[in-house]
Amino acid sequence: MSTSTGTGMNAARGLLRFITCGSVDDGKSTLLGRLLYDAGMLADDQLAALARDSRRQHADAPDALDFSLLVDGLDAEREQGITIDVAYRYFQTARRSFIVADCPGHEQYTRNMATGASNAELAVVLVDARKGLLAQTRRHTYICALLGIRHVVLAVNKMDLVDHDETVYAAITAQYRRLAQELGVSQVQCLPVVAPTGDNVGARSARMPWYDGPCLLELLESADVTPFRAEDFRLPVQWVNRPDHTFRGYAGTICGGSVSVGDEIIVQPGLQRARIERIVGTGGELARASAGEAVTLCLHREVDVSRGDVIADALRPAAVADQFACHLLWLGDAPLLPSRTYRLKIGTRTVNARVMSIKYKVDVNSQSRLAARHLDLNEVGCCTLSLDEPIAFEPYALNRTLGGLILIDRQSNATVACGMLDFALERSSNVHWQHVDIDKSVRGASKGQQPLCLWFTGLSGAGKSTIANLLERRLHALGYHTYLLDGDNVRHGINKDLGFTPEDRVENIRRIAEVAHLMVDAGLIVLVSAISPYRSERRSACELFDDGEFLEVFVDAPLAVCEQRDPKGLYQKARAGAIRNFTGIDAPYERPEAPDMHLHTDGQRAELLAEQLTEQLLARQGGGPGSA
Ligand code: ADX
Repeated sequence: MSTSTGTGMNAARGLLRFITCGSVDDGKSTLLGRLLYDAGMLADDQLAALARDSRRQHADAPDALDFSLLVDGLDAEREQGITIDVAYRYFQTARRSFIVADCPGHEQYTRNMATGASNAELAVVLVDARKGLLAQTRRHTYICALLGIRHVVLAVNKMDLVDHDETVYAAITAQYRRLAQELGVSQVQCLPVVAPTGDNVGARSARMPWYDGPCLLELLESADVTPFRAEDFRLPVQWVNRPDHTFRGYAGTICGGSVSVGDEIIVQPGLQRARIERIVGTGGELARASAGEAVTLCLHREVDVSRGDVIADALRPAAVADQFACHLLWLGDAPLLPSRTYRLKIGTRTVNARVMSIKYKVDVNSQSRLAARHLDLNEVGCCTLSLDEPIAFEPYALNRTLGGLILIDRQSNATVACGMLDFALERSSNVHWQHVDIDKSVRGASKGQQPLCLWFTGLSGAGKSTIANLLERRLHALGYHTYLLDGDNVRHGINKDLGFTPEDRVENIRRIAEVAHLMVDAGLIVLVSAISPYRSERRSACELFDDGEFLEVFVDAPLAVCEQRDPKGLYQKARAGAIRNFTGIDAPYERPEAPDMHLHTDGQRAELLAEQLTEQLLARQGGGPGSA
C-alpha cells in the first residue's frame, strides 16, 4: 500500500528554489549532504576529503561516509556564536536545477528562516520518525505558510530506528496533513527516508516496500510549483530608460499575468492610460511577455511614469490603498514601536509607513494569539499599517511581489521587518481630504504673523519649559498669537493614557506633533516643550510641517547638571529605583545632530537665552504683528 500522494513524473521544469526545515538532530545536514551526493554533485576530491573527514570523526566505522560533514557550516558557525545567515547551495540533475536555502532551525533564527522561505517555492520539512511532530515542525510549517510556500515535502527520517514500520510513518503523516491544512499549506507530499544510507533519497528503498512513491530527488525534480501569481498583468517599474528623446521605455520584471503589444494599460497608483506599443525583452523585440520576464515597455503616447509605479492591465487594475491589515515578522534587534515612521518597500516602490496598531501577536510555536504593545525580534504580529501615499497592491496570497513588503529603519537603514499584506482597510478608500478655503496663510495673515512650530527638546531639568515659557511671555507682550504645548501638561489630557515605555513615548510625540501641526494650521506660533528623546520621532514631527515652519531647539545641559537641579525630585527617585525608564538614567536620550538652535543652559541665565531666541524669531518674522 502506498501512503504517498502519487505524482505524475513531469518533464523538466527549470529552476526550483526550496528550503530545508529541521534541525541537526533530525538529520537535516545528513539529508542535504546525501542529496548532493546522490545527485552526483560531489567531485572526486570532495569525496576523498569527505571519506578522510568521516574516518577521522568515526574511528568505529571507518568506511561509512558521514554526509553531515559536507554541509555543517551553519552548525560550526552556531557553535562559535558567529552571526548565522542562510547558506544557499546550487545543484542540478538532468531534469532540473535547484537552489536550496539551508537555514538554522531554532526559534532564535526565525528571521533567517524567513529570509530563506521568502523566495522559495517548496519546503522540505524533516521529522525524526522516533519523535514525530514537534513544536518546531509546527513553527517551521507556519513560517513557510506565512511566507507564501504552498508546497511541502514531509520527509520522515530515521525510519531504520523504528524498524521501517509503516504504521509509525502513517500516523506521523496523517497528523502532519491535518496540521498543514490548518495552516493553509495546500500541497503536501510525504515520504519515509533514511538519510545516511540514502533510502528514498536519491533512489527508492528496497527496505520499505510498502512505500511505492517517488524518492526525494524524483519528488523535487517533478514537483509542480507553478507560481501562485495573479492572472492579471502587473509590472512594477524598476527603471525609466530614456537614453535620448527618441526612446522612452519602462523596465521591470513582470510579476503577474502577461502583456501583448496593443494591450491597454494603466499606470498605478494614478489613473493615466495608454496602449503598449513595443515590448523589448533581453533577446529583442517581443509580441508578448509573461510573469517572470524582464522587459522594457514602450507606450503609444507620453505619460508620466516613474520608478515605483505599477503598469497594470487597464481592464483589471490592481487595488490602490494607503491603509492595510498585514502580518509582520519582526527582524530588528530593537523592537517594533507602533507610531514610529519606517520606510516601507513594496515591489519597486518606497514610501513612509507607520504601524497604527498591533491587533495581536502570534506565538510561532502554537499559533495562539497574544495581546502585544510592541514586537520583538522573531515575533510575528497582525498589524494595521498606514502609508503616507497610496500604493497599487495585491494580497500577498495572490502576488508575493505586490503583496510582500519590508520595513526599513530610517536612522540605521537596517531592514527591520518583512510583511505580508492581507487586505486594504475600507476606511482608506472612504475618507477623503476635505478642501477648505480659509487656509493657514490666511489665518496667519489675519494675526499678522507667520505660523511656526518651535520644538524644544532636551533632558528633564535642562530648562526647556522655563525658556519656552519666557519666550512665550515675550512674544505675547509683542502681540503675537502663541500656544505652549508642554509635555507634562499634555500628559494630563490627550496623552493621559500614555506612560514612559519606548512605544508610549513614540505615541506621545506623534500626538503632540499632530496637535502642534493643527495649531500651526490655525495660524499660531506653537512652542512644544517635550523631552522627545528619539531622533526618529523628532524627524517625523518635522516632516509634518512645510519648509521653514519647524525649528528644532536643543536645550542642552549635562546630565549631572540636570540631576543636580532636579526641580521635581524625579532624578532622585529614578536613582533610588522608584521610577523606571527615566531619560538619562535608564532610558536613552538621542542628541540632535543638527538642531536649528542649540542652547547651552549650564552657566547661562534662562532670561538671556530667551531674549536671544526672541531676537532670532523676530528677525524671521520680519516686522512684527500687523506688518506681516
Ligand atoms: S517624552 O519623553 O515622552 O517626550 P515628556 O516630555 O512628554 O516625555 O514628559 C516628560 C516629563 O514627565 C518630565 O519632565 C518629567 O517631569 C516627567 N516624567 C515622569 N516619568 C518620567 C520618566 N520615566 N522619564 C522622563 N520623564 C518623566
